Amino acid sequence: MRTNRAAMRISDSRRDFLKKAANITLAASAFPLLKPDSSHQVHAAGKDLGEQNPLQSATDEQFWSSVRGAFNLSPRFINFESGYYSPQPDAGIDEVNNQARRVNELAAFYMRDSWLDDIASTTRLLGLFAGCAEEEILITRNTTESLNIVIMGLDLKAGDEAIWGRYEYGSMQVAFKQRAAREGIVNKTLDIPINSMSDDEIVKTYQKAITVDTKVILVSHIVYLTGQVLPVRRICDMAHEQGIEVIIDGAHSFAHLADQITGLHGDYYGTSLHKWMMAPIGTGLLYVRKEKIKKLWPLFGDWNYATDKIQKLGHFGTRPPYLLFAIAEAVRFNQAIGLARKEARLRYIKNYWVTRLAEVRNIIVHTPTEAYRSCAICAVGIKDKDPGELAKALYERYQIFTVSPGYPGAVRICPNIYSSIGELDHFVAAMKELAAES
Ligand SMILES: Cc1ncc(COP(=O)(O)O)c(C=O)c1O
Repeated sequence: MRTNRAAMRISDSRRDFLKKAANITLAASAFPLLKPDSSHQVHAAGKDLGEQNPLQSATDEQFWSSVRGAFNLSPRFINFESGYYSPQPDAGIDEVNNQARRVNELAAFYMRDSWLDDIASTTRLLGLFAGCAEEEILITRNTTESLNIVIMGLDLKAGDEAIWGRYEYGSMQVAFKQRAAREGIVNKTLDIPINSMSDDEIVKTYQKAITVDTKVILVSHIVYLTGQVLPVRRICDMAHEQGIEVIIDGAHSFAHLADQITGLHGDYYGTSLHKWMMAPIGTGLLYVRKEKIKKLWPLFGDWNYATDKIQKLGHFGTRPPYLLFAIAEAVRFNQAIGLARKEARLRYIKNYWVTRLAEVRNIIVHTPTEAYRSCAICAVGIKDKDPGELAKALYERYQIFTVSPGYPGAVRICPNIYSSIGELDHFVAAMKELAAES
């Protein structure tokens, strides 16, 4: 019987959830109906933009200040490290807390009654947002999990070759190395200075590395060290002509660049929703092109689903269900802003500080700055200054938090849509002072 108090609450909440989900489907032309939360504030501010195109609204400080107002930012420091993970807007963290309380109250009743339905609803919603069929995506915990499912699940045998660059993220490199150690696949790593190459040269370098044994290429859409955008679609098209599959590491591109996943032409794509999507920490997404699902071995054994169903790859056991609701909130928030507008703003703020520093003595910008080759993330250094020391000075003397993830001579600057022009000016002034001391 579903007439007890708990069941009533579940169905009320489910109705609410599905209502929100339905609103999203309407949102392509009109913004969704929103509750009075941070998405709502951003939505209201967006109305004042009128007919502005994304490039015009990228510089509308009134609008972006209302976006900033949707976040509870630390007063201790300026956060230029969105590349690890981004804070959620207040409405997102409220959703996590409220839903955690509700789920905790209902406990196993919720899990048995509603959990799987809520996974399905959120997956549908995310599919609409990401521009792919729900049958091709899976909610995971992060990029590492998504791409390990792929790398470990590929049907490779001894002698089969995988190609990837030395700038790929370490967790993916070690996954391929484990397959080499255990099963004898061959890793062909590209040691190329991508930042000084044109996109044509980059595609050709991948092409030249291909042999008759090559089965798969791993490539980042945005390189985590420098923020460089790689020509993944061209790499995919070139590889497909030779029957080679491509895995795209989309850790930094999802909800950062406005591209839809299927538009990139990859066979597999993994991302972390806690990065540029601003969903709760510990949420991610895996995309597998429909016809590729059948041949992928599940990393976590499964007996529930047919071999051609993506759910066979998601037998993760029990995990926090309340995060699903906050993913839905992140979808609403991103839609209220609009991805094209978000991308334009992120590129604008990168250009804002880069153009003010590029010609300054001793400052070296390591990321290509053409619009199609970078967006928010950019690597910068000071001549002869250790990047760890630079990050330390920025934090201790100017309260600017950033890191040096490993690119020689550079710190990685990752502002976000909550960053203000005042913060960028403060950073520019700090770098000029530090460069003058060098
Ligand atoms: C390119 C790239 N891939 C994968 C990851 C791993 O992300 P996560 O720890 O969220 O799985 C990162 C993390 O920053 C990354 O930069």
